[in-house]
Amino acid sequence: MRMLNVLVCGVCGKMGGNVCDILRENKKMRVVCGVDKRRKILPFPVYSDFTEVKEDIDVVIDFSSPAVLKEELEWAITKDVPVVLAPTGYSAEDLGYIERRSEHIAIFKTANFSLGINLLLKLVRKASETLGDSFDAEIVEKHHRMKTDAPSGTALMLADCIKEACGGTKKYVFGREGRTGARGNEIGVHSVRGGTIVGEHEVIFAGEDEIITLSHCALSKKIFADGAVKAAEWIIGKPSGLYGMDDLTENL
Ligand SMILES: NC(=O)c1ccc[n+]([C@@H]2O[C@H](COP(=O)([O-])OP(=O)(O)OC[C@H]3O[C@@H](n4cnc5c(N)ncnc54)[C@H](O)[C@@H]3O)[C@@H](O)[C@H]2O)c1
Repeated sequence: MRMLNVLVCGVCGKMGGNVCDILRENKKMRVVCGVDKRRKILPFPVYSDFTEVKEDIDVVIDFSSPAVLKEELEWAITKDVPVVLAPTGYSAEDLGYIERRSEHIAIFKTANFSLGINLLLKLVRKASETLGDSFDAEIVEKHHRMKTDAPSGTALMLADCIKEACGGTKKYVFGREGRTGARGNEIGVHSVRGGTIVGEHEVIFAGEDEIITLSHCALSKKIFADGAVKAAEWIIGKPSGLYGMDDLTENL
């Protein structure tokens, strides 16, 4: 069987590098080129945009930024190539665009490729359904000093999960300052930035005289690259549509 050709978008970045490291050992897939605004000498061509790509590509793994989204998906639709989207910080408009474009190609998108976080989401859903409004939910996320968006995409996924499980009426409060008054029907979301923290998420359910805390700590970025590579292998040959971690974990 021939090796499957992968294009890594954001190939000169930290996560792009992790994906390349994992694929170097892979028996079925290999990186044949990258797209990145930065320059770096790599053992394959790195293009500054998708229009320059010459290779036949089986799947794109994107760990760049939301800025490349439109150029990338228009190119992928013309070439009929599935895309794995890992960047965080997409706007509501971007998310609508991704959904519309997924009518034409298979797109896999998640703000967190770790299996542990996806288990945490399931536990948080169960806890929220069980506790309802009798406990106050607060989310604390911690990341390295270079992270450019806040709150993290994962913190938003956790907030959405709690909100949905509690009937959809809770508002999000991002950090608190000044005379805020008593807590309302809300989910607090708090972002810590510092040093080289890979990624920590804590969901606190605070009730009368008791507290339940569910948390996840990523010790290395490799777990995300590994999940994205699994998603890339899985999505090749899938019909058009928008896929996520539930689709992948069902089949692992
Ligand atoms: N979904 C997940 O599980 C997960 C895990 C880790 C990181 N991320 C996200 O992945 C993204 C990259 O993270 P990182 O730590 O590797 O960042 P990084 O800054 O180290 O790398 C990003 C790379 O993308 C390139 N890039 C940015 N905009 C571009 C554009 N318009 N066109 C082409 N290249 C462009 C940059 O030049 C850089 O080389 C971030 O959005 C981060 O939040 C997602």
